[in-house]
Amino acid sequence: MSIQLTKNTKTVTLNTGATIPQIGLGTWQAKHGNEAYDSVLAALKSGYRHIDTAAKYDNEVQVGKAIRDSGVPREEVFVTTKLWCTQQQEVSKALDESLERLGLDYVDAYLMHWPVCLRQDTIKDGNLMVIPILPSGKRDVNIDTWNFVKTWELMQDLPKDKVRSIGVSNFSINNIKDLLKSPGNTTVPVMNQVEMHPLLPQEELLQWCHSKGIYLEAYSPLGSTNAPILSEQEIIDIAKRNDVTPAQVVISWHVQRGYVVLPKSITPARIESNLFTFTLPQEDFETISKLSSIKGEMRNSKPDWDPFVPFI
Ligand code: A2P
Repeated sequence: MSIQLTKNTKTVTLNTGATIPQIGLGTWQAKHGNEAYDSVLAALKSGYRHIDTAAKYDNEVQVGKAIRDSGVPREEVFVTTKLWCTQQQEVSKALDESLERLGLDYVDAYLMHWPVCLRQDTIKDGNLMVIPILPSGKRDVNIDTWNFVKTWELMQDLPKDKVRSIGVSNFSINNIKDLLKSPGNTTVPVMNQVEMHPLLPQEELLQWCHSKGIYLEAYSPLGSTNAPILSEQEIIDIAKRNDVTPAQVVISWHVQRGYVVLPKSITPARIESNLFTFTLPQEDFETISKLSSIKGEMRNSKPDWDPFVPFI
């Protein structure tokens, strides 16, 4: 029996009551020439209504212009951007700068990109979208006078007409527990965006976050640059057996696990086909779910934030 691919425009409901399309377009590394502009336009034309960017991606200008030029009403698109680490002590200013670059009045979600504050002291040219490096060669991480709980408290105070919701990214369970138990906490993060794919299934984080009403979002769902997950033999075999692409297999697996998934592509045909998912036969779903226990975990994004240790 052949399987049924359907255009997946399903939404899920966040702890704010807002809905978010379960598949969104990732835009990390889409910044050369018109890549981000063209891919966002292609995505909106294909039926995506969820675009994910970040100040650090250096593409907010293109992303915002594409949303505005697309003809899709603003209120129909869920737009997420992220606070870069160098601006954790000036959150309100950072948000205004992101909105200015995007050319939008508000974002649907504003995420703390990492639970790490970077100092601005070594930046000489005014470009804050960098990782400042000390003469010693180390990253200029500030854990002496600041922490992510203080940043979160500033985020909680952002005007609601400019940010519909606030959340986090690259946070561990312990990091979120620290936020929730801080005396100044008034807001449960709407989401936690983390690296997640068959070789990094994040099962414990997924269960824990969802039990707290914090939606998980998968970045690098295909394994990041050049989509290494798609070359796994098991994925190729499942794709062949079901007559779909390897990317559709992996994206369908994410969808079936029940969180938001953000495949990145700058290729219009891939952008379009990545929106089509199907229900994996149980056996195939389990094969993919077991991959990391057989092959070992793979984490692509693991910056050295010493002395801050992420993911624990
Ligand atoms: P490109 O952007 O050149 O189309 P991730 O979402 O895990 O970060 O993966 C991004 C990588 O996966 C990019 O190199 C992207 O290439 C590639 N990619 C995205 N969709 C597909 C697809 N359907 N088939 C093959 N590669 C894809």
